[in-house]
Amino acid sequence: MTQSKAHFEFKDIHVEVEGKEVVKGVSLTINHGEIHAIMGPNGSGKSSLSNALMGHPNYTITSGEARLDGKNLLEMSADERSRAGLFLAFQYPLAIPGVTVANFLRAALKSHRGKDADMSDFRKLLKAEMSDLSVDPSFATRYLNDGFSGGEKKRVEILQMSMLKPKMALLDETDSGLDIDALKTVADGINRYHNDQNAILLVTHYQRLLNYVKPDFVHVMMNGQFAKSGGPELALKLEESGYDWVEKEVLQKAEV
Ligand SMILES: Nc1ncnc2c1ncn2[C@@H]1O[C@H](COP(=O)(O)OP(=O)(O)OP(=O)(O)O)[C@@H](O)[C@H]1O
Ligand SMILES: [Mg+2]
Repeated sequence: MTQSKAHFEFKDIHVEVEGKEVVKGVSLTINHGEIHAIMGPNGSGKSSLSNALMGHPNYTITSGEARLDGKNLLEMSADERSRAGLFLAFQYPLAIPGVTVANFLRAALKSHRGKDADMSDFRKLLKAEMSDLSVDPSFATRYLNDGFSGGEKKRVEILQMSMLKPKMALLDETDSGLDIDALKTVADGINRYHNDQNAILLVTHYQRLLNYVKPDFVHVMMNGQFAKSGGPELALKLEESGYDWVEKEVLQKAEV
């Protein structure tokens, strides 16, 4: 890939999980300040792509390239990718019994900054971010995701993002399981984080999140490939008409 000004860019990514190819050559260029959304049927490879880009060991990138601000992500460990500024909010956040939310966030900040945050500054920041995201203060001393409801887990993922302020945020179904008020709170959190120095790639099944977090581009993933890309109107059309027409379009193109 030639060096470009793109913020985050991946090219012809193929991902294998359990010996099966589930992502079959996807490319995307995301510039500073942009918001991209990926939509697509269950099992089309959206989470596999996100997990693989983040460096999850179960998802092997068999070929392709990925760069963040020109740096080759694929030769970095997951931890190095995180320190380089990549962040993934998981579709299914894992519980870490024994590690409190506060300690987890403090350790993550330390790893990113290379030094411990001042305790009182950290507490102030955590309190403010938790309040903005309507996360009850008692969550600071609870074990990470242990016994959290679906919606609470999603809010705490966004809390992590707000604290770490990554350069590039991958948000995998951050809207799933949220009640109506929580959806608005989480969307506000995403919008507060977003600026012209970072970028967001979000995976969602529903248009409703996109009413609050406005995407510049929408991509449809089907059978491990991007079948179609467009603007925000594409998400509206998918909500209205489903995915059949995209599949037909792909088949017609293949026949020509
Ligand atoms: N850890 C795994 N072990 C085995 N198969 C997996 C694993 N992760 C993903 N797969 C398979 O890879 C394919 C793509 O799954 P993936 O989770 O990426 O889809 P998705 O587009 O995120 O779907 P959803 O919208 O339901 O979240 C599926 O067939 C799935 O069963
Ligand atoms: Mg998924």
